[in-house]
Amino acid sequence: MATSSDYRLGEFAFPRGWFMVGESAEATNSPKAMRYLGQDMVMYRGESGKVYVTEAYCPHMGAHLAKNTTSYIVRDGEQIEGDSIRCPFHGWQFGPDGACKNIPYSDFVPKAAKLKTFPVVERAGTVWIWHDPEGLEPNFDLPDFGGHYDAPGWVNWKIDFMGDLDIHPIEVVDNMADYGHFVPIHGAKDFVYFANEFKDHIVHQYYAAGHRTLVTNPDDVLTLDTWYTGPSILQSEMEGTFNSFILITHTPIEDGKIRVWHGLMVQVNDGSAPVTDELREAALQYQEGSRLAFAQDVEIWQNKKACLNPLVIPSDGPYGKVRTWYKQFYTSRDKTPDLHKRTNGLHVTLDKRDSTQAA
Ligand code: FES
Ligand SMILES: [Fe+2]
Repeated sequence: MATSSDYRLGEFAFPRGWFMVGESAEATNSPKAMRYLGQDMVMYRGESGKVYVTEAYCPHMGAHLAKNTTSYIVRDGEQIEGDSIRCPFHGWQFGPDGACKNIPYSDFVPKAAKLKTFPVVERAGTVWIWHDPEGLEPNFDLPDFGGHYDAPGWVNWKIDFMGDLDIHPIEVVDNMADYGHFVPIHGAKDFVYFANEFKDHIVHQYYAAGHRTLVTNPDDVLTLDTWYTGPSILQSEMEGTFNSFILITHTPIEDGKIRVWHGLMVQVNDGSAPVTDELREAALQYQEGSRLAFAQDVEIWQNKKACLNPLVIPSDGPYGKVRTWYKQFYTSRDKTPDLHKRTNGLHVTLDKRDSTQAA
């Protein structure tokens, strides 16, 4: 398992950013044990409906807040009251800010009795935390996923779990620059354009090429704008048989191991007509096609060895730039402007557009 320090990414083992930690349905009034970013965590839904993620271990004597079924606190359903969580061991209760607010057998509540909490956003059927190695507030927002979730005429995604992979996330992010894999892995043909644009914490991939099977007309060109916002969230607006919107996201579990999810939202009509069961089924099949295409990358990642230094040739995409861009999330905030200066701008790998296409 190659780690962040093996790739010389920066000061931190785990990056700064928004990370998916589960689906909305997994957040309930029964606290769920999770492990991400090298830390044991607990997720629960308060009575207000809001989702909370805290460290897993009680500051009193270290009990795990979610791994218990036999304590009377758990059996009596007293663990979540309001938006607070109670430890199954001695019943200490922690509020939404993590501070202890009640000890059943003491009027004295020490200030140090505080659970570490993470900023949480629940959006589009998924739950996200902000992780920051410097303990700072978010400096960019969780994306709104094109505004397509629950939008008229769109079918929401069902999230596909793609597996826990023994690979460092940098090798997944490499895909942004990976011009050379689209023909052999994904069945692209007749490339027209491939470029990357770096803008601070965002990197785009602009793509135009034919495809063996995905286009109706053999001369049609698939045009994609795909981008990462931060270190873990890939989105793509795609035009094809349907307009659709991809999410691919990966969260470190340990340094060098990630959990990967995929989702696709599909526009089946302009919103003026109802979405029938048939259209919903067509959307799910379209998502399955997208999942299978992504699984082609996953199969490579599951079986490759770590690539600390790609043996890059001039016709490859800008792996080095993408990796330099990616370092900003492992680097203290005061040093990121320097990394932005080194990467910001457009890098064109291939341009065979005629003058009308270029316009
Ligand atoms: S260990 Fe949690 S209340 Fe004692
Ligand atoms: Fe790929």
